[in-house]
Amino acid sequence: MIYEVNLKVNGQDYKVEVPADEKLVDTLRDRLELTGTKKGCGVGECGTCTILLDGKPVSSCLYLTVRAEGKEIMTIEGLGDPDNLHPLQENFKDLQALQCGFCGPGIFMSAKALLDKNSDPSDLEIKEALAGNLCRCTGHVKIIDAIKATAAEMQGRVK
Ligand code: FES
Ligand code: FES
Repeated sequence: MIYEVNLKVNGQDYKVEVPADEKLVDTLRDRLELTGTKKGCGVGECGTCTILLDGKPVSSCLYLTVRAEGKEIMTIEGLGDPDNLHPLQENFKDLQALQCGFCGPGIFMSAKALLDKNSDPSDLEIKEALAGNLCRCTGHVKIIDAIKATAAEMQGRVK
């Protein structure tokens, strides 16, 4: 059975027709061509597909598109762009906190959700917020440093 679903992604309205079992990551990437959200494992274990749904981080590979009707979705495309980076992206760039970058879109979404509710997180709180995001390249140390640098900026402290 095909369902018509109204989606709001990065402030823009979309109408899609999807089968009942279609996952949001596939709708975003294949139907809306928002390919910034990455699909790694496809089974909820790597976090590359993390998006914000009403401000909360969600694995879009596990989330049915039909359930997203009426919710606010934010993907990496809504965070910043090359000419206007989000402070998180700026700090990740300055501190070279990513290598291959595949995990980045999911990590940015988890970090944004954290900083939106806690502008001065401890190392432990950052680690807990990123518990669902795997990075196979960096060892996570610089990722945590970049999130702390962003938090420091938000607090008006020197990086
Ligand atoms: S692709 Fe969704 S958690 Fe890995
Ligand atoms: S930078 Fe390569 S997986 Fe994180």
